[in-house]
Amino acid sequence: MVAQVIDGKAFAAKVRAQVADQVAKLKEENGITPGLAVVLVGEDPASQVYVRSKGKMTVEVGMNSYEHKLDAETSEEDLLALIDKLNNDPAVHGILVQLPLPKHLNEDLVINSIDPAKDVDGFHISNVGLLGTGQKSMVPCTPLGCLMMLRDYHGSLSGMDAVVIGRSNIVGKPMAQLLLGDSCTVTIAHSRTKNLPDVVRRADIVVAAVGRPEMVPGDWIKEGATVIDVGINRIERDGKNKLVGDVDYASAAERAGAITPVPGGVGPMTIACLLANTLTACCRANGLPEPEGLTA
Ligand code: GUN
Repeated sequence: MVAQVIDGKAFAAKVRAQVADQVAKLKEENGITPGLAVVLVGEDPASQVYVRSKGKMTVEVGMNSYEHKLDAETSEEDLLALIDKLNNDPAVHGILVQLPLPKHLNEDLVINSIDPAKDVDGFHISNVGLLGTGQKSMVPCTPLGCLMMLRDYHGSLSGMDAVVIGRSNIVGKPMAQLLLGDSCTVTIAHSRTKNLPDVVRRADIVVAAVGRPEMVPGDWIKEGATVIDVGINRIERDGKNKLVGDVDYASAAERAGAITPVPGGVGPMTIACLLANTLTACCRANGLPEPEGLTA
């Protein structure tokens, strides 16, 4: 079997276009413009690239972007004061504090100081609890993007066997909750899982989110399974820098029914879902119906 490629770049562009349409409607019919505040502390080069990209795409879909760049020595008190200000600013519907934070700042404390209704990353402990109990919440962007692609490809996921490899708070755990919410039978596998190849071979859906380059070979994949590769790993091969996923794409594509490439798979969906979450937060804040197809 040769897998169908799930084109995340094209899918993300479609999601952003849907968001842009809804934003235009909100402005015209309700006089409301959604606003996203992004807070960056310090000068981590990768974070600077992400933040620039988020700001650009926020403006492209017609939302207001508020960027707050603080120096690396910013005190916890000053950061919490800024978050408090953003929590109370009615023009700001979404707040994202770019991670990782410098070592002297307590990430959990900072994240949990964001108003859960504006927590477009879905990292606040209230949102984690709401998702875990199947209630309306803000859902972490990367797993939401994976869910959207799976629903688009399969329609219903009900009754499917899903294996999530990786148990991070940002991807693995919320991904498992979302799949459970769509009535999959879910296994969370991790570095201590016994007989991982056989666990993965059972799966109709494999979501790989471990951050280890090409660790899932094709012969772990059941014929016809859907493979969602969340990994973005920089490696050097033949003297060149290359981006690869957590799945060995070439061999997995020979067995899978469908597969996301790296780059161009899950990656572009993360920012698209951040914009979708900001729109959702804005609609909820204003007592308006939520955008269809853009939430869990
Ligand atoms: N750093 C890397 N990815 C993310 C993300 O999705 N959200 C935040 N806040 N920081 C990140």
